Amino acid sequence: MITRTDGARRATTRTQSRLPIRAAAIVLGFSALAVASAAVADQLEDMMKKEGCNACHSESKKIVGPSYKEVAAKYRGNPKAVEMLVEKVKKGGSGVWGPIPMPPNSPRVPDADIKKMVELILALK
Ligand code: HEC
Repeated sequence: MITRTDGARRATTRTQSRLPIRAAAIVLGFSALAVASAAVADQLEDMMKKEGCNACHSESKKIVGPSYKEVAAKYRGNPKAVEMLVEKVKKGGSGVWGPIPMPPNSPRVPDADIKKMVELILALK
């Protein structure tokens, strides 16, 4: 008898004490997401600055070229976007966003860095 009551009480206590843990896990999950998207923007910003892309692009404002966010929105869900944009950034070109051309960035900027930047641009929300 005594053992069973104890067991039941212990089980209740365990369930109750698990709830705040789950709530904490959810909160942590959300802040991890926020940190992840801030990290994408930060890493992109650093690379674009280093490679001189920031002269013509910014995260949310059109300068000479489109903002990274506009680019991300235009190609969202396009499975060929990375490949296509890597080629475009390497060779430059015009006509997608207007008459002003982007100059070629290759070989000044290493291919791997161009690919990484394109992936980061497309990961922006
Ligand atoms: C001298 C200015 C200039 C520089 C420097 C520059 N861009 Fe651009 N970029 C442009 C312009 C202008 C466009 C729009 C071209 C068009 O309309 O087809 C563009 C377009 C783009 C696009 C979208 C292409 C498309 O077809 O939708 C991406 C992605 C991009 N740039 C990334 C970069 C990266 C990464 C760098 C640095 C390695 C860079 N740009 C450097 C001017 C620049």
